Amino acid sequence: MSQACSFGVAKEAGAPYIAPVDRRKRIRKGTTHVAKITYIEHGGTEHVVEVANGLTVMEGARDNNIPGIEADCGGACACSTCHVYVDPAWTDKLPAKEDMEEDMLDFAYEPDPARSRLTCQIKVTDALDGLVVQMPEKQI
Ligand code: FES
Repeated sequence: MSQACSFGVAKEAGAPYIAPVDRRKRIRKGTTHVAKITYIEHGGTEHVVEVANGLTVMEGARDNNIPGIEADCGGACACSTCHVYVDPAWTDKLPAKEDMEEDMLDFAYEPDPARSRLTCQIKVTDALDGLVVQMPEKQI
């Protein structure tokens, strides 16, 4: 079970903590599993990046300087500025929303109950390889 709405790296209970610098080294060496995630800006510009397992989808955007995900609260599930629309092919493949995420989405810009998620609450795993998310017109 993962920790919901925690600061910093969401960590699986019992999983070893891997510092971000070590994580980048492991990715370069090919010893860390990554998922390819496509972030689509509101205007249609696509960014396809590899994000290490254990990071959140928000952290993948932040670490790759992808515009459109602001993440003002740093992943604490307290701002809704990491809001995205998940591609319909992926909505059923993601873990269910926790109550706190559901509540915070009420403050997002034009949320879509069927597709809106907070990227700080989606932890990257091998199962998310190929995930596609689209950023809203703006974050509020
Ligand atoms: S970063 Fe603030 S709610 Fe996700």
